Amino acid sequence: MAIGNAPTGGWKATDCMPINILCIGDVVGKPGRNVIAEHLSEFSTERHVDFVVCNGENAAGGSGITPQLFKKLLRYGVDVVTLGDHVYKKLEIVSELRSSERIVRPANLPDSAAGRSWTVVETKDGMHRAAVVSLLGQMFMRTCDSPWGTIDRVLEEIPGEAKIRIVDFHAEASSEKIAMGWHLNGRVSIVFGTHTHVPTADACILDGGTAYISDVGMTGPYGGVLGRKKAAVLQALRTAMPVPFEIARADPRLCGILVAVDPNSGKAESIERVEIAGGATTGAIYDPDDGRPQRLVEG
Ligand SMILES: [Fe+2]
Ligand SMILES: [Fe+2]
Repeated sequence: MAIGNAPTGGWKATDCMPINILCIGDVVGKPGRNVIAEHLSEFSTERHVDFVVCNGENAAGGSGITPQLFKKLLRYGVDVVTLGDHVYKKLEIVSELRSSERIVRPANLPDSAAGRSWTVVETKDGMHRAAVVSLLGQMFMRTCDSPWGTIDRVLEEIPGEAKIRIVDFHAEASSEKIAMGWHLNGRVSIVFGTHTHVPTADACILDGGTAYISDVGMTGPYGGVLGRKKAAVLQALRTAMPVPFEIARADPRLCGILVAVDPNSGKAESIERVEIAGGATTGAIYDPDDGRPQRLVEG
């Protein structure tokens, strides 16, 4: 059943200092998790990050997320995990989707789909509350309900006091993403694109005060194809034969955006791309949380 997470008490912003929100792109496997473990805490301290949203749809072996890995991301400093087309690839996550306020499934799935379609949680300092929504695009993607009508309904459901509103638009087509940015211009604080795993150079503040980027890029190994080993992907494309697409190892990076938001108005004041190089991934590329390598290369 589609449910939201209503805040349990009233709150009031007490100052006009902007709060810093970090939105992290698709975490791919162990290399992606490692770079978050290595760098998120230090970066958050240095840049006074008040709230972290992270797309975790590829966290477990490149496809889906398990309860253990969800809790690991929270321990690393993530406040809310968003998902995408791989939402149910690891079915164990359904229990967390049903019970935790810190993970949301794409809102434009049928009501029967497990999980919250939006959530509202406190920022790290407990001073403000932020709403987070995950949304799937329709172009070149799995069948889903209209993201346009869905987000309009969701924004009506979210309590008006939650001025900080963050939308992860998980979509393939840049045209659909840019259009969603304009659709939500002035109505949400941040629209950040995910799914293509490739960062785009169009980070901006739209004229209504919405921070926008078409894709923040994945958090994972860039020395491959969308996080998978390049030799395997090339072999599959050249031969048309199925090949297991294992997680790549080289060049892990944490990619995202850092946005300053006025908590009273919900308007974004600045946006910058974040890209942090991780150390070499040593040892096994999978651990027991990852499951077996997947055969499909998908964003
Ligand atoms: Fe995806
Ligand atoms: Fe992805």
